[in-house]
Amino acid sequence: MNTRQEHTPVLLHEVLALLLPVRNGRYIDGTVGAGGHTAGILEQSAPSGRVLAFDKDPHALAFAQERLACFGERVTFVHASYAKMGQFAPLMGFAQPDGIVLDLGLSSRQLNDPARGFSFMKEGPLDMRFDPSKGETAADLINNLSETELADLFWQYGEEQQSRKIARLVVGARPFTTTTQLADCIAGHIHTPKHIHPATQVFQALRIAVNHELEEVEKGLAAAIELLAPGGHLAVISFHSLEDRIVKQTFRHLSQDRTPPPGYPATADSGPAILHLLTKKAIQASPVEIAQNPRSRSARLRVVEKIEFGD
Ligand SMILES: C[S@@+](CC[C@H](N)C(=O)[O-])C[C@H]1O[C@@H](n2cnc3c(N)ncnc32)[C@H](O)[C@@H]1O
Repeated sequence: MNTRQEHTPVLLHEVLALLLPVRNGRYIDGTVGAGGHTAGILEQSAPSGRVLAFDKDPHALAFAQERLACFGERVTFVHASYAKMGQFAPLMGFAQPDGIVLDLGLSSRQLNDPARGFSFMKEGPLDMRFDPSKGETAADLINNLSETELADLFWQYGEEQQSRKIARLVVGARPFTTTTQLADCIAGHIHTPKHIHPATQVFQALRIAVNHELEEVEKGLAAAIELLAPGGHLAVISFHSLEDRIVKQTFRHLSQDRTPPPGYPATADSGPAILHLLTKKAIQASPVEIAQNPRSRSARLRVVEKIEFGD
């Protein structure tokens, strides 16, 4: 992958067209990565729009900070999960942001760096943590979970059809320390269609488990919807069906009127619709974008507006 592709934000025009950044606006980028979406928001909201940019990965933040230095104080960086935006944003002047973007998963920079351990194509430590300063690594999981726990993990987070067979194989061959050891062990015994590496789903499952990605998406959506100013827009890009399902179901649920019929008691979930769907179906990358940046092929963009209630 060349450097240009590494830093090309996915679905940038579509995100900007629906987020509609304006001068003086306040925006949150929950996953700043290489800073592509943040740069687009800052350009479109010039000269006074501001962005609060989160990332769990200190290396990504350092890179984005350097790349976005030209925007000066219009961008502020936070080393934390987007799931915690509700705690940070009000303290930093972003109590009711006009727009929030979440571009989920991992960046090409992370995938392409063997030392991070995300890729089965490159020899590196079995790590996979977005924040390398805390939490269990992929090696910790693969070497210590029971065969049943591993099978469940591969099935639940990788939708891997051969989860039980792979778990048995892994437990018989461990300990593993590197990405290629694990990938080669799986490839030696598991058969998949030629264009799909047999370790693809296992690597996805480990990454999701190591980073608690699905829980983070649930918490991050709740935090973003709570924080957003009335009339503000939330744009979420997901890269696999497990994430997209959570985004789709959350948006659908909260865009429906949940007021109980007369005579029925209210529950914790009752209430009027609080979101308006701006994308009835997920937006996908155009063939031109996919040709330029193959990573965009699996991207799904969903956008909602927080409903303003009159007094
Ligand atoms: C797909 S990349 C974002 C790319 C970015 N939009 C750009 O234009 O360059 C996803 C980023 O989200 C970060 N990330 C993943 N989970 C996170 C979380 N829960 N909180 C904050 N950042 C997270 C990753 O470290 C990675 O840098």
